[in-house]
Order: sequence, then C-alpha cells, then structure tokens
Amino acid sequence: MCGIVAYTGSNEAYPILIKGLKRLEYRGYDSAGVALSQGNKIGLYKCRGRVADLDLFCSDKDIKACAGIAHTRWATHGEPNTQNAHPHLSEDGKIALIHNGIVENYLVLKKELMSRGYKFQSNTDTEVLVHLIQDIFVKEQVPLEEAVRIALGGVVGTYALAILSADNPGQIILAKKGSPLLIGIGDNEYYVGSDGAPIVEYTKKVVYLEDGDVAVVAPQKKLVIRNINDNAKKRPYWQKLEMNLEQLEKDGFEHYMLKEIFEQPKAIRDSMRGRLNVQKDVVSLGGIIEYETKMMNARRFIIVACGTSYHAGLVAEYLFENIARIPVEVEYASEFRYRNPLIYEDDVIIAISQSGETADTIAAVELAKRKGATVIGICNVVGSTLARATNAGSYTHAGPEIGVASTKAFTAQVTVLTLMALSIARKKGTLALSEYHQIIGCLEDIPEKVNEILQLDDIIKDISTHFVNKRNAIYLGRGVNYPVALEGALKLKEISYIHAEGYPSAEMKHGPIALIDEEMPVIVLATEQETYEKTVSNIQEVIARKGRIISIVTKGDTLVKEMSNYCIEIPATTELLTPLISCIPLQLLAYHVAVLRGCNVDKPRNLAKSVSVE
Ligand code: AGP
Ligand code: GLU
Repeated sequence: MCGIVAYTGSNEAYPILIKGLKRLEYRGYDSAGVALSQGNKIGLYKCRGRVADLDLFCSDKDIKACAGIAHTRWATHGEPNTQNAHPHLSEDGKIALIHNGIVENYLVLKKELMSRGYKFQSNTDTEVLVHLIQDIFVKEQVPLEEAVRIALGGVVGTYALAILSADNPGQIILAKKGSPLLIGIGDNEYYVGSDGAPIVEYTKKVVYLEDGDVAVVAPQKKLVIRNINDNAKKRPYWQKLEMNLEQLEKDGFEHYMLKEIFEQPKAIRDSMRGRLNVQKDVVSLGGIIEYETKMMNARRFIIVACGTSYHAGLVAEYLFENIARIPVEVEYASEFRYRNPLIYEDDVIIAISQSGETADTIAAVELAKRKGATVIGICNVVGSTLARATNAGSYTHAGPEIGVASTKAFTAQVTVLTLMALSIARKKGTLALSEYHQIIGCLEDIPEKVNEILQLDDIIKDISTHFVNKRNAIYLGRGVNYPVALEGALKLKEISYIHAEGYPSAEMKHGPIALIDEEMPVIVLATEQETYEKTVSNIQEVIARKGRIISIVTKGDTLVKEMSNYCIEIPATTELLTPLISCIPLQLLAYHVAVLRGCNVDKPRNLAKSVSVE
C-alpha cells in the first residue's frame, strides 16, 4: 500500500512530487506528506486527508527545494491522522523517512529505542526506522547509507524506503524489501516512484530495485546500489518503462472506473493480440511456451490470488477442467500460505494478480517455489514483483488500472486464462477440433460483444436508481456464472458500501433464502447455459418470497425477462466464455449505484489499489 515519490535534480521538486502523489493516490489516500531539502534544513509538511489537502496546506508555505520525498499513506499501524502521516523525522530533525510496508518487529525495536531515550511522535511502525537509523548513524559514525544498511539488517518485515538528510542536501537513500520501488533517470536528475506513474512523464529509463537493495541517488552522480546483507556493489540494470502518460489520464470520463469499464473491448483485444490467430488456427502464449509440456503433464493446477483476481481464478477452474481436463484448486493466497499445503513437484501453481505486488500472492508464490513446484504468473504490471518471482508467465495487456475497483484487469485475466486453457487443451488433445474452432471463433468476437453491452449504459443507469436506498443485495449464478456473481457482489460492496453476497443459485435454498423479502434485490445471471432451467426454478423461489429480480439474460430470452422486475439482455456466446461478457452489466450497475449514493468510486473508503501488506 501507499505511494512513494522522490525527486532530486535541478528542477523544482515540489510540483513534481505533488503531481506524482496525485498519480499514485490510488495506492493509499488517508494522509499525505512531503519532506523537502531546503539548504541544510528539511522542510516537513504533512496532513490528514487527500493529496489535494496537502497541496492546499502547502500553498502558503515555503516549498522551494531541488530534492524531496513524498508519501500518500494507507495506514496499517496507527490511525490516519497528521501525526502518523509520513514523512517521519529523526529527533534532531535531520533525517526524514517515508515507508511503504510493515515493520513486523517494531514493538521490540520501539521498546529498545525508548529505553535509550528516544521519544516517539506517532503510533506508526515506521517511526522506529528513522530513530534506529539515526542511532546507528550517530554511534557508528558511518555514512548515512551505511547506517541505513546496518539498521535494515535488524528489521523484520517489508519496506520500500526513501530517506532524505539535512546534512547531504540533494541525496536520497532508497531501500527495498517486499514493496516495490523504481528509479527513473533524467537529465542529471532522478525520479523515484512506487510504480511508473509518477515517473513516466519525465523519463522511460528505469531501474526496478530488487529485494535487499540499498540505493543512493544524487544529481550529477551515478546511481549506486548495494546489497543489504553483504554490502556488495551491484550494477544497475536499466530498462524501458512500459507505460504511456495518456493511459494515466481520465480521457473525458467522470471516473477512472468508468473509463476502465469502457476500455474493456480494447483490453481484451490487446490481451489476445499476437496470441490468437483464428485464420491460422493458432493459440499461443509466448511467455509460457517453455513450460507448456510441464503444464500439460501437471498433476494439478493450484491457482492462488486475492479479490477479483481470485474470481478470475474461479472462472479458470471451469476452463482448465472442462477443456484441458486438468484438476484445479483455487485458493485465496492468504489462506494457502498459512496452512502448510501439500505441494508436489509436478504441481503447477498459477498466481494471478493485476498489480503483481499483492503481498499474500507473492508469499504464496515463494512458498510454492520453496516446495519445488513450477510457478506461472498472470499479471498486468510489467516488471512487478510477481512477474520477477515466477518461473514464467503471461502479461495481461489491460494498461494501467487506476480505479481501486478492478474491472478491465478481470476481463483481461479471464482472456489470458482462456487462451492458456485452449493452448494446453489443443496440445493435449482433450478438446475436439470442432469445439476448439467454435470457442476461438467466439473468443475473437468477445470485444465486439462487450462493446454492445456498453451501449446499454443508460438502461443500466436507470435500473441502478432502484438500488440506491437498499442495504443488501444477493447475486446468484451457476457454473461459470457463479464466480461472476461473486465478482458482481464484490464490486457493489466495495464502491457503494451496500452489503452484497454472491452465491451459487442452488445454494440459496440452503440458507440465504431466509433473507429474501420484498426489500431484497436479487441479481440473477440467467444466460443461456446448461443449467438455465434450474436457474429459472431458483428465480421462482425468489419470486415466491417477494424478492425483486434483476436478471442478466441472453438476448431474445422471454421466459426470465417476463419474470423479472428489471432485465438486461446481453449477446449470446459459447457458455465457457460467458463470464467475459456477463460481468460487464454488473460492473456498470455497481458503478452507477455508487455514484448515485455519492460515493468516491475511484477511491472507496478503507481500500487501496495495491495491497502490498499482509
Ligand atoms: C478488486 O476490485 C479489489 N480492489 C481487490 O479485491 C483486488 O482484486 C485484490 O486486492 C487483488 O489485487 P491484485 O490483482 O493486484 O493482486
Ligand atoms: N506501516 C506504515 C504505516 O502504517 C506504512 C503504511 C503504508 O505502506 O502506507 O504508516
């Protein structure tokens, strides 16, 4: 969580830092702060609230500086207030530090530092770092970067750090373990960010720091990277930042989420580009070619992911089992990592993550690797921790997803997983040629069908007006539509704060049916599928208890339409590909309900885009 920006060079630092924070705000937005290198002093400005509040707070302050570090926080330890906002200062005011991550042994360190007389200004775990570094710096009389390195040797947890010192204006020390950090080089200047968003406007030449790196940047000087453990110097590996500035703008849409929902035809097409060629009858994913035989012969696939990515994994379970006949288990990464799972060398783990930084997913990957399994990654952010931690993988090409509620990342993930299943099934011979042709033909048409559904936006907006004052909602789906029901419910609850649950339609009678009365909206995915008739019966059960039905049906359906209070018709496709289109109306519904309720859809309360803490 949290966003880090830093700059050092000959330009004014503050405008670069504040703009960078605005671009990173989706990572955390409960408080923000900036520390500026001003002569031989550090200017510290921080406040509770959004980056805009910080900017306002700074509007009458002296913000002239050619170097600085800035932070937008997502609190883990200590409530979101000004005191706990980053940067944190050393007692002599000479060292300022910002942190993304968690210091797990902070209580032990805090006790020790307090016994040595250090006074704490905040309730954060982070503050121990700045006092610890100062303690070592003063006692050992070593350069600050060496004090940082020594201090981090005793720290348990995860961190991306940026440190500014009054004694060395213009110099910024960086360190990384578990949380992302990258450095961009400009014209005798350096830009630092938790991701490429604050950097891309200025340079595309970047180094992704790796776990265990301590780096020092200063204008006109070469970047120096050392290893925390053995102090060995490392040659920086410069890469091209794969990101465009235009992708980070709202493009005339009121919210990023809406823009991203509307980008789905493109995101799906881009995720298929070069991988699906219907004319040549080819489905191939370059990133996993070397591991395809291993995948074909796998004892089973274990899919690990969180949130929306977990729902994409549940869709993939149907795909892999149905067409590639490989047993699949789908697990929340957070549960998987702590239950001593049985993992064999012929298991293939598939980790799915939009950000590629989700701490639980990364930890699950590390565990699987330690047990000797092959790990395949599916992620959207090029160069992310997941992309580097896996044996092989495929990127989704959805482009940056800024809205905290994941939308285009989901459909792009399902697209890539579908291609993966098709490619393996074809090679394994588990899918009849005619069926294979039918599915790839339908897959090619999906972007156009998504486009068609997006044209229903006004109708869906209208339907959403009937939801605004509801307190609960139930989403039902069967088979491949069951994960879509879960995803629809997640979308609604995270951005509109209406309590919503997804269930397999037939499970309703085993408990949730008790909740149904005339106040309860029940959103049913009732598209053409093998279990259509069964779904119709489930709808009858809801109607008999006076529940309100909002149905998603296949165009031309009359039976369910007549039974529904509101109905959204979507184009037909082959059953296995239905999730790629049936999720779209649910995303739009959640979006409009949240907007009508006056919620901040792009930055819902208590959430952050990238959950890089446990
Ligand atoms: C989705 O709308 C959520 N905000 C969240 O569940 C998200 O999908 C989850 O945190 C996983 O993130 P990842 O895909 O970046 O790993
Ligand atoms: N653990 C730190 C805090 O709560 C950093 C959180 C973050 O990554 O934003 O202040």
